[in-house]
Amino acid sequence: MKILVIHGPNLAILGKREPEIYGVLTLEEINKILAENFQDVEFEFFQSNIEGEIVNKLNSLIDSDFDGVVINPGAFTHYSYAIRDAISALKIPVVEVHLSNLYTRGEREKFRQKSVIAPVCSGYIAGFGHLSYILGVEAILKLTKK
Ligand code: DQA
Repeated sequence: MKILVIHGPNLAILGKREPEIYGVLTLEEINKILAENFQDVEFEFFQSNIEGEIVNKLNSLIDSDFDGVVINPGAFTHYSYAIRDAISALKIPVVEVHLSNLYTRGEREKFRQKSVIAPVCSGYIAGFGHLSYILGVEAILKLTKK
């Protein structure tokens, strides 16, 4: 079982970035927790602040032996049709995850309540901090039933 975990922009600074919203764990700690919780899963972890790099990474999954993708697209969630199209082209399950609950972020943050990515994903998990990633992996395992 091979799962690619993609972290989008501004997630490399987790731990220092608005910890009251995104938590105190660093990206490395989240990746480590995933690896420890799912020892039978072979993970690849990928982080980029660059939209095209994420598109390239997703394109590279066509005809690959990956079984699923867990992606936190960060702010690209709200406007990246390029990432949406790259996900649409895949035949394996893709689960969108977010650390924060995008519906409780207040009037000034209303733009976060729209995901252009979610409609082409198998499902969407948000608001559970780093547990969102764990639930995302669980979803891939259930969906692929290996
Ligand atoms: C986020 C939510 C996005 O709106 C924001 O731009 C992020 C993080 C989350 O995990 O809660 O960068 O994806």
